[in-house]
Amino acid sequence: MASLFLLWLIIASLTVEGMTSQNRSQSTGFRQKRLFSLFNVVTFRNDLCTTTETGNLPGTCLTASECASRSGSASGNCAAGFGVCCLFIVSGVCGGTQTINQNCTFIRNNGNPLADTIPSETCTYNFNRICENLCQIRLDFRTLSTFASNTGVCGTVADSVMVTSPFSSSSNGFPPTVCGLLTGQHMYFETGTNGTSAGMLAIVKGSGPGGRKFDIKATYYTCDNLAKAPAGCTQYFTGKSGSFKSYNHAGGQLLANQNYKHCFRQELGFCRLQLRESATETPDAFMLSNPATAAQTTCDNQNHVTVMTLTAGMICGGLFGNDGDTGPATVTTTSGSFEVGVRSLATVITGITGFNLEYEQVACA
Ligand SMILES: *[C@@H]1O[C@H](CO)[C@@H](O)[C@H](O)[C@H]1NC(C)=O
Ligand SMILES: *[C@@H]1O[C@H](CO)[C@@H](O)[C@H](O)[C@H]1NC(C)=O
Ligand SMILES: *[C@@H]1O[C@H](CO)[C@@H](O)[C@H](O)[C@H]1NC(C)=O
Repeated sequence: MASLFLLWLIIASLTVEGMTSQNRSQSTGFRQKRLFSLFNVVTFRNDLCTTTETGNLPGTCLTASECASRSGSASGNCAAGFGVCCLFIVSGVCGGTQTINQNCTFIRNNGNPLADTIPSETCTYNFNRICENLCQIRLDFRTLSTFASNTGVCGTVADSVMVTSPFSSSSNGFPPTVCGLLTGQHMYFETGTNGTSAGMLAIVKGSGPGGRKFDIKATYYTCDNLAKAPAGCTQYFTGKSGSFKSYNHAGGQLLANQNYKHCFRQELGFCRLQLRESATETPDAFMLSNPATAAQTTCDNQNHVTVMTLTAGMICGGLFGNDGDTGPATVTTTSGSFEVGVRSLATVITGITGFNLEYEQVACA
């Protein structure tokens, strides 16, 4: 998309000297030029820009009137001063449905940055299909602090953060229903390419006490966007190395009923992933069952991660390593395998932390 900015010029000095010395053909050319210079049309793309808001949040470059008509707030300039950097925040009371109709919208709890202290209420956000050829929406949990139960089950007393769309639904485990401390984590979901709604986010506050806080950035991706995750990936990481965690690892409790994938973009010249436990000790960087003395790769009917290696396809228990390792060890995937699946049971043990793993891509031999 692009914006138009009409620049009206003051034309007082248009009786140009030298006119009389021009012959007919030159004069005609000059008039045409003069006619077009009565106003200039400035077009600029509606690119991402940096607002002057605390934290220099990303906004969309629009004209001041477009920003106002879309209920955004102008925060700084862009396009050499012809545009304003327009920030979109949705932050109203819960109970009804609020609508997201702009890319890069920040969804915040009522009263943010203060916590929302009203329990037993659902905050629903409907994502409008803002463009043709839409494929995915990415939710970045800049802050997401909700209430999790110590059994790892979201809902009832605890909260639940759920997504439904015509093509993926938390009630079918994709993406999973989550709760607890999720700040810094993200979630992709598929929107499908038709239907008026692209999906719905529900933050269901349970009956448990306490304040909830959220600040979630929603980014829309068309099917041709290179930043789009491969279909079926709930989390997507780019770059040669980094870390990833199970949802609510910061809250120290593996969530129940998880069934999703962490995916990694295969960087040019790299063929495998090396994975290891984070050196951070608290909460424990790998505990999918009671603390164990050896790594396990026979994991049927247990909480586990799926990692394709030459010798195994799953890892479970209390240590991340190759089968039988008695201390944490580095695990290397088979060539071309750039994903880690997660599966947890409907009932999980209280106090098991989930995982906090580091990855590093390995150059092709
Ligand atoms: C018009 O201007 C051109 C270029 O300056 C010149 O070659 C031509 O002779 C002129 N014609 C008349 C009719 O003056
Ligand atoms: C909507 O998408 C589905 C699945 O891709 C397809 O089967 C259906 O025909 C589409 N409907 C319209 C009206 O395009
Ligand atoms: C939304 O913004 C992101 C940048 O944050 C951009 O990559 C993407 O193309 C935009 N989506 C649409 C539908 O314009």
